[in-house]
Amino acid sequence: MLKLHDVIKTYDGKSAVTALAGINLNIGTGEMVAIMGPSGSGKSTLLNLLGGLDVPSSGEVVVAGKDLAKENEKGRSLFRRSKVSYIFQAYHLMPTLKVSQNVALPLHLAGIPTGEISRKVNRVLKEVGLEGRSHHLPDELSGGERQRVAIARALVTDAPLLLADEPTGNLDTARGEEILNLLRTIHRERGTTIVIVTHDHKAASACARLIKLRDGRVEGDSTLPGGAA
Ligand SMILES: Nc1ncnc2c1ncn2[C@@H]1O[C@H](COP(=O)(O)OP(=O)(O)OP(=O)(O)O)[C@@H](O)[C@H]1O
Ligand SMILES: [Mg+2]
Repeated sequence: MLKLHDVIKTYDGKSAVTALAGINLNIGTGEMVAIMGPSGSGKSTLLNLLGGLDVPSSGEVVVAGKDLAKENEKGRSLFRRSKVSYIFQAYHLMPTLKVSQNVALPLHLAGIPTGEISRKVNRVLKEVGLEGRSHHLPDELSGGERQRVAIARALVTDAPLLLADEPTGNLDTARGEEILNLLRTIHRERGTTIVIVTHDHKAASACARLIKLRDGRVEGDSTLPGGAA
């Protein structure tokens, strides 16, 4: 599903920063993987490359058979719409749109017919346990509920790859655990390939594999007992 070969990412600015200093990595279809590492070690940068939000300075980033480094902006935008979905620490919901409208957004952008949209939206809201909240605004929900809306929005396109950057970072332990259980269920029932960036050892232990980054390099790559295989 994901293959990175000699990936280097430098940010040019007043002083250039090397965020990724030569990453080699394979992640198979249907794996659930955690990425950990100190602040500034390159975790978000790596996730952005996997999601086609950014391109490497050199090296190959092959996702679902496409080398994203060789795609132009249009090709990557098409890739983003069909193959990948994202969950962020800060939810990134549209404050003026109701829950159902937030979840429907990626389908509207993809030009899906309205009838099909409401069917799909209802299905994923049920999947995340929010079927009773579809007419509420994000402001009227708790943090854990907001993150579940963001997960529903990520699921609604049936993308084969789900990327999560600190999905439990704004939640208390119990709420964080609910979100992780939800991600494990999605992984088990849908077979989605999931990559989670986290500072939280609990979150990492929900996964079958833990990749550790340090200074833009892979420092460790291990199998975890009890994680979602
Ligand atoms: N747009 C940018 N311009 C310049 N430097 C950047 C940019 N984005 C990230 N960096 C730098 O690249 C390095 C890696 O950043 P990245 O955001 O990937 O770290 P991270 O592991 O996600 O950290 P955190 O745990 O704090 O989120 C850092 O030194 C950061 O300052
Ligand atoms: Mg980060």
